[in-house]
Amino acid sequence: MQNKSKELEVAINAALEAGKIVKKHFENGIEKEHKENIHMADVVTEADRESETIIRKIILESFPSHSIMGEEGGMIGDKSEYVWHVDPIDGTANFASGLPVFGISIALARGNELLLGVIYNPIVGDLLYAEKGKGAYLNSKRMQVSDDDVKKGMYTIGAGRTLEDRKLFKNLYFNLPDKIRYARMFGCTVMELSYVARGSSEAHIVLGLNSYDFAAGVLLVQESGGKITKLDGSAWAFPENYFIASNGVFHDLLIEEVQKQIKNLAPSA
Ligand code: IPD
Ligand code: CA
Ligand code: CA
Repeated sequence: MQNKSKELEVAINAALEAGKIVKKHFENGIEKEHKENIHMADVVTEADRESETIIRKIILESFPSHSIMGEEGGMIGDKSEYVWHVDPIDGTANFASGLPVFGISIALARGNELLLGVIYNPIVGDLLYAEKGKGAYLNSKRMQVSDDDVKKGMYTIGAGRTLEDRKLFKNLYFNLPDKIRYARMFGCTVMELSYVARGSSEAHIVLGLNSYDFAAGVLLVQESGGKITKLDGSAWAFPENYFIASNGVFHDLLIEEVQKQIKNLAPSA
C-alpha cells in the first residue's frame, strides 16, 4: 500500500511484535485457563495477556490520548473519539490446542467509522491490513473478494454465544441452501472474515460478538470489494454485531435463508 498512515504503521508494528510473543508460546506449549462467561467458559492463556500488553504499550507510545478496548484488559481511557479495538488472540481455543487457525486483530475506529484494520497470524506468516479508502492487502498484495457463485460456494458461520444464537447457528449450518456447497466453522472470526476478504470463502455470518472480534475483519472485507449488511439486508454500521459479510454474489441468498431460519425459531402464535 502506498502512503500508509502513521496509525497503520503503528498497528502493523504492534501486530508483528505481539506475533513474536504468541509464536514463542505456540512453539513452547500452552497452558489453558478458563474464564467464566454467562453461558460458557472461554479459554484464555498467558499468551493472550502478554499479546494485549505489548499491543497497548506500542499504541499508547505513539497515541497516548487514544482509547483502547481490548478483550483481556477492557476499556482504557474512554475520553477519546479514537478507539482501538484489540483482540490479542482471536481463536484462542484453536491456538491453545496447537491449531494454527487464529489471528491477532487490531482496528482503529472514530465513532462508527472504521479507519484501519490489521490481522496477523505469526505461524502461517499472513499479515493482512486495510485502511479506509485505500484497499486491503495480504502480505503487500492487493486482495479481492471472490466472484464465485456456484462452483465453490463456501460460507462460514460463528456458533454465537447465547442459547438463542446457537439455535439459529445450528439451523443455518445444517440447512444449506442448494446453491451453497460447503458450510464451515473455523472458530476464529477474524480469520473467517479475512477468508472472505481474500476470496477463499464467499461469506461469513456473525451472530452477536464483541467489537474487537470483527472490527478489523469487516474493514478487510469492505476494502476488498465485499458487502456487509444486517441479517435482514438493511444497512450495517460498526459496531452492530449481527451481520452478513459476503463477496456480494451470495448476499441475497443468505439474507433469505437467515430470515427463513429466524422465522422458524420464533414460537408460533
Ligand atoms: C472467539 C472466536 C470464535 C467465536 C467465539 C469468540 P476468542 O474469540 O471469535 O470464532 O465463535 O464466540 O469468543 O475467545 O478466541 O477471542
Ligand atoms: Ca475473539
Ligand atoms: Ca481473544
